[in-house]
Amino acid sequence: MPTARSTPNIALIKYWGNRNEELRLPMADSLSMTLDHPTVEITLETGDRLAIHSFDSDGRAKTLTENQVSRWQKTLALCRRYLATLDESEVLPEKLVLTIRSHIPPSVGLASSAAVFSCLAKAIAGLVREQITLTDEQVSVLARLGSGSAARSIYGGFSALKAGEGKEIGSSAAIQIAPEDHWLLHDIVIIPSHDEKKVGSTEGHALASTSPFYEQRVEDIRRKRQPECVDAVLKRDFEKLQRVTEEDALDMHHVMETSTPSLKYLTADTHRIVAAIKDLRTKEHLPVLFTMDAGPTVHLLCTDEAKSHVLAFAHEQKGCTIYETKIGPGSTLLP
Ligand code: PMV
Repeated sequence: MPTARSTPNIALIKYWGNRNEELRLPMADSLSMTLDHPTVEITLETGDRLAIHSFDSDGRAKTLTENQVSRWQKTLALCRRYLATLDESEVLPEKLVLTIRSHIPPSVGLASSAAVFSCLAKAIAGLVREQITLTDEQVSVLARLGSGSAARSIYGGFSALKAGEGKEIGSSAAIQIAPEDHWLLHDIVIIPSHDEKKVGSTEGHALASTSPFYEQRVEDIRRKRQPECVDAVLKRDFEKLQRVTEEDALDMHHVMETSTPSLKYLTADTHRIVAAIKDLRTKEHLPVLFTMDAGPTVHLLCTDEAKSHVLAFAHEQKGCTIYETKIGPGSTLLP
């Protein structure tokens, strides 16, 4: 009866758009830092039918919507399809009991799907380990089938999701770029709004190619931004990391806003916070960078020396919830 634990990650080079929607095969590489918390735990057991029990951060049972149940069913079916390509189609039973305990506060703009589906993948690896030992890359493929960004949360530290080529279900996987102890970076998360987003990332990815700027984005990531970001991480070059990360985040939001229909995730609060942190870092020469995923939440990544300053700034932002995280160890199977 394996139990796995996992956490969200924050993307430095963003994953946006697929070459195959059903299999979540990305168009371009992406890169992220895995966070140390909040955590999600999933226990897998065999039962007499498929059952999913989900509990929130207060331990209260959550009723899953029809869409949520259908996403779990689809993901499990895709996982079986992938295991079949490894000649192990029978290892994952149809009649599974999933118990999900999430410590992620709802709608905080932290990628809960990345934590949840990386956790599921790790739990599956635990369940099938007597029949087949899956490599981390194979576990990351399983995670990707639930949520593309989840592929990166398998690893601690910094990891990259390689787009790969072709149409095979296993043709895109994540790898680790550097472990957790490589570089102590913090992510101070400023959450201006708790509203549910109107368009989730699964639907959003499908619109990416309608933007006239999308092709250029994919080319820029392939040709320069991803290699530059890997280099900045390996050399612990914060200035370079700041330039490339901010450029990529703004580029992704430009693509989102120019797609049809237009996707506007950033709000006046986001823009105000970004302008204020830019001012502060110019004045104080602070090693801090900003990035935003598919929502108004601002992630401020900073070095250890800048942390107290950045935290103080975050707490000055009126009406916002602050969440303090740092680089983390990735997904694990609990003993
Ligand atoms: O994994 P998904 O399908 O939820 O997509 C994640 C998309 C972004 O958070 C906007 C970017 C990323 O790379 O995490």
